[in-house]
Amino acid sequence: MADQPDAAEGPTRGWGELGFDTSVAHPARVYDYWLGGKDNFAADREVAERVLAVVPGLRLRVRENRAFLARAVHFLAGEAGIGQFLDIGTGIPTANNTHEVAQAAAPAARIVYVDNDPIVLTHSRALLTGNAEGATDYIEADLRQPEDVLAAARRILDFDQPMAVMLLGILHLIQDEEDPWGIVARIMAAAPSGSYLAMSHPAAEIHPGQMEAQKRYNERVSTPQRLREHHEVARFFAGLEMVEPGLVQVHQWRPDPGKIVPTNIATAHGGVARKP
Ligand SMILES: C[S@@+](CC[C@H](N)C(=O)[O-])C[C@H]1O[C@@H](n2cnc3c(N)ncnc32)[C@H](O)[C@@H]1O
Repeated sequence: MADQPDAAEGPTRGWGELGFDTSVAHPARVYDYWLGGKDNFAADREVAERVLAVVPGLRLRVRENRAFLARAVHFLAGEAGIGQFLDIGTGIPTANNTHEVAQAAAPAARIVYVDNDPIVLTHSRALLTGNAEGATDYIEADLRQPEDVLAAARRILDFDQPMAVMLLGILHLIQDEEDPWGIVARIMAAAPSGSYLAMSHPAAEIHPGQMEAQKRYNERVSTPQRLREHHEVARFFAGLEMVEPGLVQVHQWRPDPGKIVPTNIATAHGGVARKP
């Protein structure tokens, strides 16, 4: 993107004029750093490294989250026959974005991306373009106001047709007192029968360094995280029918044949479920 400053060059060059506070770490940019991206600043890199120091395998784990996204979307657009995707908490564009995987399987698929970080908006408008048949749209909205998300999505998606609601790596950024379970229930209540929920959520109980990692993250990042245990994540799927193999660590969800993931890798909880 030639008309934008290079994030890697530092926090003061240009982005401030665009309205970004680059001196405070942001979830999308910290995640981008872990994925090996360049759209992050010194504050993001510092906290990302502090967390990596206590969870050294984290880079592999975030890549496994992206691989889960690709397999889940491939299943939804292919086997499940879903043609509409509401991907909330898009993140900075990287490999295997939802529209690329979905439109490879179903060229006419429509994808609506939602994020509340303006830097994601800037990149997404430029990079997340659809193909000739399908369409890709972008909404700047906050999941904590689900009615706003739904109102904007209704202008683009057909709420009489099944859709996939994607909530990958976002619900841990919503605190218990903000009622993430109620938010998910409101979104899924608006989706018609035959719709799907795909979700991944970093785990509280799998990796021994995880709680120290959360402490370090929350000391510096603008939006604190709340890691959750399997039973807390399972509650997000209340009233829905889990697709096999259920809620598992993301690398265990329908792994690609022949793919070898280290057996001791500890990843997020992930699953896909259908609204009856
Ligand atoms: C860790 S990234 C996950 C990106 C992608 N979904 C994935 O799993 O690879 C989380 C994203 O959620 C966005 N986000 C966090 N809280 C949000 C909220 N309340 N509303 C909308 N987006 C939010 C962040 O800006 C960030 O882009």
